[in-house]
Amino acid sequence: MDSEIGSINKIKDTEKTKTDPGGGGSQKDQQNSSQHHNHRFVHQFLKTMLVFAALALAFIVLYRSADRFQFFPTSFYNSFSSSDGFSSPDLQELKRVLKKAAMVDKTVIITTLNEAWAASNSIFDLFLNSFKIGNQTEELLNHLLVVALDQKAHAQCLKSHPYCYTLRTDGIDFSGEAYFMTADYLKMMWRRIEFLQTILEMGYNFIFTDTDIMWFRDPFPQFYPDADFQIACDYYRGNPSNLNNAPNGGFTYVKSNSKTKQFYRFWHESRNLYPGNHDQDVLNKIKRDPRIQQIGLQIKFLDTAYFGGFCQPSKDFNLVCTMHANCCVGLANKVHDLILMLEDWRKYMSQSEMNWSKQSWSVPQHCGYAVPDS
Ligand SMILES: *[C@@H]1O[C@H](CO)[C@@H](O)[C@H](O)[C@H]1NC(C)=O
Ligand SMILES: *[C@@H]1O[C@H](CO)[C@@H](O)[C@H](O)[C@H]1NC(C)=O
Repeated sequence: MDSEIGSINKIKDTEKTKTDPGGGGSQKDQQNSSQHHNHRFVHQFLKTMLVFAALALAFIVLYRSADRFQFFPTSFYNSFSSSDGFSSPDLQELKRVLKKAAMVDKTVIITTLNEAWAASNSIFDLFLNSFKIGNQTEELLNHLLVVALDQKAHAQCLKSHPYCYTLRTDGIDFSGEAYFMTADYLKMMWRRIEFLQTILEMGYNFIFTDTDIMWFRDPFPQFYPDADFQIACDYYRGNPSNLNNAPNGGFTYVKSNSKTKQFYRFWHESRNLYPGNHDQDVLNKIKRDPRIQQIGLQIKFLDTAYFGGFCQPSKDFNLVCTMHANCCVGLANKVHDLILMLEDWRKYMSQSEMNWSKQSWSVPQHCGYAVPDS
């Protein structure tokens, strides 16, 4: 290192002595004074031009390297970026991390995380744990993208998972425990729909899963091959195509195609027609809209026998893929019951095959209120 710098300085020094214009000690200059005068004038002119060029260059370099946010107000910048509010470095980072996490068929598992749910020994730990104790679910963690809604959630994610991405939202802090149906909760939910729309636009299929959903088995064998949009239910009424099923947006499997892209755009736009409603309520309001038939979207509701929750548990341990801490109010209550749920599962996995049918859930205990939750 040091010797290299030394040799560069030496080269510079020799160049300086060769070309130094201000020395005035050259023999030619002393021979003809008018020629000398012309020479000095040209030198002066070149020097001035050089200073201008250097200034211009410095300005260009400074401008290009600085974050554009520092030069223009955010609103100005946003009006020149894509409508979904991504800055181009964020979009590049999203592309990079999607490429790494996606399966060969460009499917990625996505969850969103804020500080309150990411704290150590919290929902996020239980979520990751379920993949590890589930039956052949650990491999699926290689395809999980954790979307952090604040910097602390991002830091916490990086401690235990390789694919973490921060979704920025101008002027909104999602770090606290967003109480059901508060203004921040609604914004968080709609930001999520907007983000998932972007994922579809980028050509990726996804399973979206809330972090309070425990994964016990690979869900792919239970999906409908011909559906565009599949969604879990708080209450399942026995027919996967029945629009009377009560869907829960906490678990969806969506293929990226022109129908789903149009549908997500329509869903997100519909928030303006129903102010104060969250994505799930709006979905229930638009699910019979003729626009969805025009789009040709194939919707399927997933059976709670496989994709259960505290509202309607999967009764058969031999079938359950996922269990959601829905119908539950309060973070502490969720954590309490989810810990018991994981213990039930561990017990089931450690038993011999003969005893599998005897297993039942010890939960909900603190959860299980008859109110649909996300
Ligand atoms: C786990 O999965 C394997 C392979 O699909 C299967 O043979 C085994 O019975 C499963 N175990 C449980 C507890 O479901
Ligand atoms: C099976 O269940 C019976 C009674 O519930 C219990 O005594 C036995 O230890 C169980 N066997 C295994 C291998 O878990």
